[in-house]
Amino acid sequence: MKKTLVLKVDLQKPEIDKVRLAADIIKKGGLVAFPTETVYGLGADALDPEAVMTLFEAKRRPLDNPPIVHVGYAKQIHRLTGEVSPKAERLMNTFWPGPLTLIFKRSEIVPDVTVCGLDTIAIRMPRHNVALALIRESGCSIAAPSANLAGKPSPTTAKHVLHDLDGRIDAVLDAGPTRIGVESTVLDMTVDPPQILRPGGTPYEVLKKILGGVKLHPIAVAEKELTVRKARSPGVKHKHYAPDADVVVVEGELSAVVNKVKELAEFYMCKGSRVGVLATDETVGHYMADVTKSLGSRSDLAIIAKNLFNLLREFDLEGVDVIIAETVPAEGLGLAVMNRLRKASGYKIVRASSR
Ligand code: TXA
Ligand code: MG
Repeated sequence: MKKTLVLKVDLQKPEIDKVRLAADIIKKGGLVAFPTETVYGLGADALDPEAVMTLFEAKRRPLDNPPIVHVGYAKQIHRLTGEVSPKAERLMNTFWPGPLTLIFKRSEIVPDVTVCGLDTIAIRMPRHNVALALIRESGCSIAAPSANLAGKPSPTTAKHVLHDLDGRIDAVLDAGPTRIGVESTVLDMTVDPPQILRPGGTPYEVLKKILGGVKLHPIAVAEKELTVRKARSPGVKHKHYAPDADVVVVEGELSAVVNKVKELAEFYMCKGSRVGVLATDETVGHYMADVTKSLGSRSDLAIIAKNLFNLLREFDLEGVDVIIAETVPAEGLGLAVMNRLRKASGYKIVRASSR
């Protein structure tokens, strides 16, 4: 066990002494959790293989699931990648800093452990003052997966980070809850047309407008489990985003969904389970369960995305055995929400029909 230092920092103007302290830890091969606009990340010097190895150990992350490398300036990517296509340049100019991760061919200087032996590398520039200050002050490229124990919902507050990693990491920079709440979109630029491997903070519809051709890989839609060979994205065979409780997702037309959620809640309660229902403002009044929570209004998918991981963690704190979750529209940020929910359920998806 180590002592994890908690450094509260100002979101707008991060205090330079605290940022320097954290940057020194990174430079010396240590681990610092930090906020981004999406979720909190757990950072290590991406070019220091030992530091990256301790990062995998702290998270108990399987060694075949590579982290995203975070940069503080777009030009930093040229050390990490081979050729950068005009299409990729256009995306970087348009969306960086922001919640878009691009997959490139990697360069020789990137240690194998950082990319789990792949010949590609995932890179993004986060849109967050604290993250950018830390990266720039350290002078490093920072490998940073989400700062949760492997398999758990991603952290959107420093409290979530400490719940999973207190005593396992050197420090956390705490600048309050993150703005977007789901992770970045992962876009593979090594294929033509580019493919979305994970939907996230930059919606598919927005990328389509800029790129014309862009494909949604089936793994991004996550309607069912794919074989590892078909999945193409590493690490997909592992459990993701899962609270301790079992999750069941109910999909279909809204009134049918409400009826099915009611029926399932009753079924599990009769069996003696402690039941949680993950609802929305429009439907929350319909349910009788041990714990019912609303993600927000169905008309505001950004709020729903922002609340998702926090509520999954809250259900665990309330000790529910099973969470029955409503579907939300799979458009805009809703596609990222549905991807996380489907994966959290281990693809236990019930289709409600009105007939
Ligand atoms: O918003 C985010 O992206 C957050 C914050 C901290 O920046 N980070 C994050 O990292 O979500 P992580 O490690 O939890 O997710 C990284 C994703 C995984 O789905 C991984 O499989 C994929 O990126 N990935 C990484 N390198 C890849 C590569 N070379 N090819 C394909 N997918 C890759
Ligand atoms: Mg993660």
